[in-house]
Amino acid sequence: PFILSIAGGGSTYTPGIVKSLMVRLSDFPLAEIRLYDIDSARQETIAPVVEKVIRDHSQTIKFTTTSDPEIAFSGAHFVFAQMRVGQYKMREQDEKIPLRHGVVGQETCGPGGLAYGLRTILPMVELIDMVERYADNNAWIVNYSNPAAIVAEGVRRLRPTARVLNICDMPVAAMRNMGAILGVDRHKLEVDYFGLNHFGWFTRVRVDGEDKLPALRRHIAKFGLLTEDAAQTDPQHSDPSWVKTWRNIKPIMDHFPDYLPNPYLQYYLMPNDIVEHQDPDYTRANEVMNGREKKLFAAAEEYKRTGILPDAFHVGVHGAFIVDVACSLAFDLRQRHLVIVENKGAIANLPYDAMVEVPAYITAAGPEPVRMGAVPLFHQTLLMQQLASEQLLVEATLEGSYEKALQAFTLNRTVPTMQHAKAILDDMIEANRDYWPAL
Ligand code: G6P
Ligand code: MN
Repeated sequence: PFILSIAGGGSTYTPGIVKSLMVRLSDFPLAEIRLYDIDSARQETIAPVVEKVIRDHSQTIKFTTTSDPEIAFSGAHFVFAQMRVGQYKMREQDEKIPLRHGVVGQETCGPGGLAYGLRTILPMVELIDMVERYADNNAWIVNYSNPAAIVAEGVRRLRPTARVLNICDMPVAAMRNMGAILGVDRHKLEVDYFGLNHFGWFTRVRVDGEDKLPALRRHIAKFGLLTEDAAQTDPQHSDPSWVKTWRNIKPIMDHFPDYLPNPYLQYYLMPNDIVEHQDPDYTRANEVMNGREKKLFAAAEEYKRTGILPDAFHVGVHGAFIVDVACSLAFDLRQRHLVIVENKGAIANLPYDAMVEVPAYITAAGPEPVRMGAVPLFHQTLLMQQLASEQLLVEATLEGSYEKALQAFTLNRTVPTMQHAKAILDDMIEANRDYWPAL
């Protein structure tokens, strides 16, 4: 049985991940679950809920919470990482500062994602170093930490040999919805996909070898990438802003007759429309703080008072997917999943060393990417511009370069002019004083 540590244990996602682990114990046996967080107060609030989820399924799994990396990672076989540097109060800034300048306010797309990247790269590398110091030599870090594309590039630059697998639940959430539309479990789908994280396209969606993409497109043209069922099964993705995201795929899909765009491409391809419908005083961060966060803290409070745990935390594809990936790594299952990997030719006409999102067979030695071939010039160009923006942001972080940060912001498709880029960057430097390296 494994020792598993969750870095960012105080996250509201933790109960959902642990619940997913509990229902998969026969596939992924556990001796111990450790929660690690630098915000111990927050972690201690959530810990009783997590412990209850464990005890409902097992009396023997050891449960530990700590803010000491040595205790957290000693001998660990797996680390699930989900850090949110600056927590929701900084996510709020990431979203609201660009909006003040008429630019998309989103936590991973646009200037918000770049700002979040500047906060996260170095702490992520610190985490890797602590894990490498204390954990089992064969330990894997499965990393959900956002902004995943930038974090992956930062890790590649600074710790190229680390056993880190960067993942995102967005493609698999899209697949969950596709499955609901087609009436099959998402595990039955075999997809082809190319791009960067939060910036890519499905090119095939096969069920038993037959491509269902045309059928999916017909459904999406009417209803978006959504069914009522899909929304109901996952409370996170049934929030109004998520429903809007799944529906908004319609107008961008029309411009890609052969593919299915990742819903996040709407931020890059129709930014004016997005900004027009965003409330600059109440963004997704506010929705999450007043929704998911409040619900979980209230549930923890109620559990403490009454001993009864209302099922108020969210379980869904987010938790299930990281467990799927960990199982495949642990037992060399060679399952095919969409993950973030070094390109090495998987997308023939993107740089060899770019961090791309493609299907890969997940083996005990890591991901073996599937070749997606060359992509059309238009897509390649969009990808190259986004890649340049993200790579310059990483260089800005490592070199403390204002100029490169400005270039990164300017090259982002959500940002209309260099003047916008500079104004947003300057406001963000101010807001991120406690987090960013000096630029
Ligand atoms: C998707 C993305 C994640 C992102 C999350 C935000 O799942 O793949 O990268 O963190 O959405 O969701 P939230 O509910 O916090 O807005
Ligand atoms: Mn993601």
